[in-house]
Amino acid sequence: MTNFVENIVELNLEYSQKSPREILKLAFSSFENIAISFSGAEDVALIELAHKLNPNVKIFSLDTGRLHPETYRFIEKVRKHYGLQIEILSPDAPELQAFVQEKGLFSFYDDGHTECCQIRKVRPLKGKLATLDAWITGQRKDQSPGTRSSVPVVQVDEGNSANRQPLVKFNPLANWTSKEVWDYLRMAEAPYNELHERGFISIGCEPCTRPVLPGQHEREGRWWWEEATQKECGLHKN
Ligand code: ADX
Ligand code: SF4
Repeated sequence: MTNFVENIVELNLEYSQKSPREILKLAFSSFENIAISFSGAEDVALIELAHKLNPNVKIFSLDTGRLHPETYRFIEKVRKHYGLQIEILSPDAPELQAFVQEKGLFSFYDDGHTECCQIRKVRPLKGKLATLDAWITGQRKDQSPGTRSSVPVVQVDEGNSANRQPLVKFNPLANWTSKEVWDYLRMAEAPYNELHERGFISIGCEPCTRPVLPGQHEREGRWWWEEATQKECGLHKN
């Protein structure tokens, strides 16, 4: 672990030229206490790749309570298809209840998504990450030219390392394009979220996600009422 972190700059350089499979192999051979963070969208490519390398791969999903019914069904489909457990994490109930009581169920349209995302996604994620040595995400550079253009394949997750040993974050799909992900999913005959058949590309919570029109970037379907520069919910601080 210490060696890994000391060599992380070199490792990132070396592995940025390698395939997602090679990056996952590095992740599993370096860390036992590691898990995939699965959103219920095209990041199923990670599970398709990972379960062949590690049949006991650990997976978790953040259930915000506001996902599309199709996404809940898809998460269940993935669980059965791969025969894997998926840990479903919920927000803190008293905190969520107080927030909804005070601001209602759609406050994000009035004062932005940050507060709701903090309660429904970021804090449950931080709680989970505090139990892990490393995590794996489906972030890609092409998902958001504004905020993800320099996502590394492996990094120290500074934002989530406080008061503990460094937390390592792998982004094995960082250099794949959306087309490469989808070519792979088709080739592997992997299951996918049925929302993708209806114009959705990037999928988050139901009230904050919409399909995009031809020619629009996938990120334009997320938090569309907000400035493009703020389209991150706080899960990823690179
Ligand atoms: S977000 O920050 O804008 O919501 P995005 O939808 O692009 O993230 O997904 C990027 C990666 O973040 C996913 O591949 C996954 O690893 C992680 N992620 C996003 N949403 C969730 C979720 N609800 N549960 C678990 N992981 C998630
Ligand atoms: Fe709340 Fe929307 Fe963020 Fe989901 S994406 S946690 S509904 S603000």
